[in-house]
Amino acid sequence: MTVRISLLFSFLLFIACNDGKKSELTESDSNSEQNATTLKKGSGIGPVKVFRLPETVDASLAETGKQVFTQKCTACHIIGKKLIGPDLTAVVERHRPEWIMNMIMNPIEMLSKDPEAKALLAEYNNLPMTNQNVPEDEARALLEYFRTLK
Ligand code: HEC
Repeated sequence: MTVRISLLFSFLLFIACNDGKKSELTESDSNSEQNATTLKKGSGIGPVKVFRLPETVDASLAETGKQVFTQKCTACHIIGKKLIGPDLTAVVERHRPEWIMNMIMNPIEMLSKDPEAKALLAEYNNLPMTNQNVPEDEARALLEYFRTLK
């Protein structure tokens, strides 16, 4: 009898723990949570501290972003393939929006200090992404364009 009860108890405990893990993942958006998910997806270093994306994609802003991308980024990035830099398909799922904008506007500092950027630099043969003084409105448009690449 005691064995049964303790078995039941550990089963319940198991369920309780699993539940805890689930809610940790769904809370990954909250900035204050210092769980593994937020540590992996940081905001980066640069002018954009907190940024909340609207739910729907702004098609005309995305179109502007696509034009900026063609002018300033295609020397190193093409969509759908690794070139000098990574394939940016689904990049919005790999990083927070703040991080992406900071990487575009402040790549040199990001590459020397931010853990996610440093890991990429190592993966891409220590070839640094150049700083092109991209203004914030263009970085925002680029981000919107990236939301359409899934
Ligand atoms: C000189 C080549 C070069 C140019 C130009 C360039 N990038 Fe990059 N980019 C890279 C490299 C290389 C990396 C990987 C990190 C590193 O080694 O610097 C990277 C990484 C990135 C990342 C992170 C990708 C990921 O998979 O996590 C984003 C976002 C990005 N670039 C956006 C842009 C945008 C937007 C532009 C145009 C404004 C741009 N890059 C221009 C070379 C470039």
